[in-house]
Amino acid sequence: MMVKGSFGYILIIVGLIVVVDYARSQQANLHTTQLADDEVHFNKSLEAILVPRVVGSRGHQQVRNYLVTSLKALGFQAEVDEFKQSVPIFGELTFANVIGYINPQAQNFLALACHYDSKYFAEDPGFVGATDSAVPCAILLNTAKTLNNYLLQQFRNRNDLGLMLIFFDGEEAFRDWTSTDSVYGSRHLVTKLAQTRSPTATSKGPGTRRIDRIEVLVLLDLIGARNPTFSSFFENTDGLHSSLVQIEQTLRASGQLEGNNKMFLNRPAGGFTDDDHRPFLEENVPVLHLIATPFPANWHTPNDNAANLHWPSIRNFNRIFRNFVYEYLRRHSVPIDLRFHRR
Ligand SMILES: *[C@@H]1O[C@H](CO)[C@@H](O)[C@H](O)[C@H]1NC(C)=O
Ligand SMILES: [Zn+2]
Repeated sequence: MMVKGSFGYILIIVGLIVVVDYARSQQANLHTTQLADDEVHFNKSLEAILVPRVVGSRGHQQVRNYLVTSLKALGFQAEVDEFKQSVPIFGELTFANVIGYINPQAQNFLALACHYDSKYFAEDPGFVGATDSAVPCAILLNTAKTLNNYLLQQFRNRNDLGLMLIFFDGEEAFRDWTSTDSVYGSRHLVTKLAQTRSPTATSKGPGTRRIDRIEVLVLLDLIGARNPTFSSFFENTDGLHSSLVQIEQTLRASGQLEGNNKMFLNRPAGGFTDDDHRPFLEENVPVLHLIATPFPANWHTPNDNAANLHWPSIRNFNRIFRNFVYEYLRRHSVPIDLRFHRR
């Protein structure tokens, strides 16, 4: 991804933001009993993903299959969004986004996302992109695993809300990052979700576009290095970002986090980092961008590998994020509308 100076959208909020006291009520009601870790599962998932996986390679195909198999094993309905596209250096390649659903017929969705392709470096065929984004993808699978009893029991068959896990393909540029040489998978998926309509009436009326049923896209990227910090990128999801700050505080106060690094900061990021969320933003999908800023020191270098991962930071992120997802699903009853309403 790439850092830009400022976020160039001018949008006017006229609608009522429903998330009102989400952050504050979170703190009061957060279950302080830890939703248990499953680090054996995390390590196994990471090991499977942590291979060179440039689009079109054998490792890429293996990881794609692994994601589909893992989602099915966790009770998700798995969908593969495959397409061919011509790219710099390689010519035509086959891409495939992998998507998992719980409650695919629900009115609205919480979408959690990462990218599973690794960046191509001619001079470094062994590049594994540990933080970019093997760890984020392992975190998504581990979240699904540690919440699995809840997802397959109380959450199952809910009509108000479904859960989507999106593993984007082709996030990385093949040559230099531009708006066309980047986020291939995300652009394709958004086009598809904007063209297909839900067969049944939803809270937003009959034939709602599938893209409009995503309440928020939570995008994880560049996670796994020592002591990351996450700031809030978008005003309309600032309440959700604050709830991460609160959950971190609550878990730390009850001795469930390692070390003292405070990773979720109650402050605006003050800029825009281009990533898989761009096509979603263009369709007015609310985005919570969980990308470490500043970027990890080893970003896009051969050192972005297993040896340089920081396990206390990974464990803490897993715990905070799992609680965040659980609380979002558990507390949801009416649609949450964080979209910008244009005048
Ligand atoms: C997971 O892997 C890390 C790094 O190799 C290791 O420190 C940790 O003990 C492993 N956790 C489990 C439960 O095996
Ligand atoms: Zn990258």
